[in-house]
Amino acid sequence: MLYHATTPFNDQKPGTSGLRKKVQVFQQPHYLENFVQSIFNTIAAPAGATLALGGDGRYYNCEAIQVILKMAAANGFARVMVGRCGILSTPAASCVIRKYRTHGGIILSASHNPGGPEGDFGIKYNIANGGPATETITEAIYATSKTISLYRLIEAEDVNLAKLGDTKLGEMTVSVFDPVADYADLMESLFDFAAIKTLLAGGFRTLFDAMHAVTGPYAREILINRLGAAPDSVINAIPLPDFGGGHPDPNLTYADQLVAALYGDNPPDFGAASDGDGDRNMILGKHFFVTPSDSLAILAANAHLAPGYKNGVAGIARSMPTSAAADRVAAALNIPCYETPTGWKFFGNLMDAGKVTLCGEESFGSGSNHIREKDGLWAVLFWLNILAVRKQSVEEIVYQHWARFGRNVYSRHDYEAIPTGAANGVMQHLHERFSDLTGTQLGSYKVLYCDDFSYTDPVDGSISTGQGVRIGFSDGSRIVFRLSGTGTEGATLRIYLESYEPDVTLHHLDAQQALQELIGIALQLSELRQRTGRLQPTVIT
Ligand code: G1P
Ligand code: ZN
Repeated sequence: MLYHATTPFNDQKPGTSGLRKKVQVFQQPHYLENFVQSIFNTIAAPAGATLALGGDGRYYNCEAIQVILKMAAANGFARVMVGRCGILSTPAASCVIRKYRTHGGIILSASHNPGGPEGDFGIKYNIANGGPATETITEAIYATSKTISLYRLIEAEDVNLAKLGDTKLGEMTVSVFDPVADYADLMESLFDFAAIKTLLAGGFRTLFDAMHAVTGPYAREILINRLGAAPDSVINAIPLPDFGGGHPDPNLTYADQLVAALYGDNPPDFGAASDGDGDRNMILGKHFFVTPSDSLAILAANAHLAPGYKNGVAGIARSMPTSAAADRVAAALNIPCYETPTGWKFFGNLMDAGKVTLCGEESFGSGSNHIREKDGLWAVLFWLNILAVRKQSVEEIVYQHWARFGRNVYSRHDYEAIPTGAANGVMQHLHERFSDLTGTQLGSYKVLYCDDFSYTDPVDGSISTGQGVRIGFSDGSRIVFRLSGTGTEGATLRIYLESYEPDVTLHHLDAQQALQELIGIALQLSELRQRTGRLQPTVIT
């Protein structure tokens, strides 16, 4: 049977990064099929097209892959390249789409959200440049999903995903390939592996936490096999469908084993972690945390030390809520810095047009034009490359950076799973205050502007509105309020806080302490506590 009648679901709207729902939602009859068919109808791939396919190995990954393979065969794809055992990190998927010039790729992941039967699942489509589909495409997929009446799927045996090589599925070829090799080769082409090898051989200790998510096999191949790191320097290296019950988000709260090691006695020199699908990173030194916004700025300022960037950086892009630390580096390098809405899909056009080389977000994401996704292990290797050349500690590098550029003190407070009505009420209330806030003095801060961020893509002219409420102060400090587009339970309200500190003698201050007054202003302005009943953030990063 090739055609299956179906009826639309009304909730298949892709968010910040694809469609994310509870596993049980995806397990409803026809739910996955409807969305996949909506993708195929929207992209209308030509006959003979190849698709890349894989995911972060979370619960339901393999079942979904079998369904998608049979649907791809019924929809006329000539070939699907699928990572062995259905594994493909998000950056590796981007790498493979580009390297083999596939028509696009489907990535199965809910990124850093927990997995397992009670956890989350997700699916997103990436286009031929290797990056997430643009908003125009995701909107078209959503529109299609609202009217869909049939999907195509061939009847066939499941494909053996454990065996490398080609098999036939109907008329289509399924190529099961090694998900690590191409990506590892790309990393080797960008960074000074010889210098990193020497560093690691000289007693420099590194610890990488794969959080039982997709990066385990990648980190082992690159750090241990190719760079000679100690065998025990990659922990939680085996991908598990439920991430071992953990929350695969590399931050100070969830990467607790790594944090305990780096903040304990006799810590390693360098610590890092990545998330469920391998695109995020957290960087730690001995008893030291590198704020992601600072990490982007430091990578930019030191890019010339890595062979892949020795000719410099064309420009930098950061998401709006990310701190302006990178802007200061861009100004010093005399290159442009672009401010985009949250989500990696906005960086693709800028990179394709050659306008930027490095991109980053405050949410533990950084990357470059080597692919069109953010890239966790790439950031780790970039840091190791810089450490190998500069022969200083992580902490020394960060303090020297602040001494040169000043410090953009930064923190994000997340209030997760709050009732949607209350969260919308907070945002609405803030909008209503725009007109009377500008020019007012709040404690030691004077409001310079407040608005809802909108972005006009400088390449294709598309406009994205409603991207977050910004309240800017005359000294460059900022408070941003935004609703998450990746959560699956109620609403998540994010408050982003930033202040600029040029005074070196104050650079050692704890961020929460330094941002105390701004935090108070944010709570007062938003009436968050009264409206949500929440007295504390769920996660502080
Ligand atoms: C979050 C992050 C955002 C990132 C996205 C996907 O989205 O804030 O920077 O691009 O995850 O990893 P949000 O939940 O805020 O919409
Ligand atoms: Zn991710």
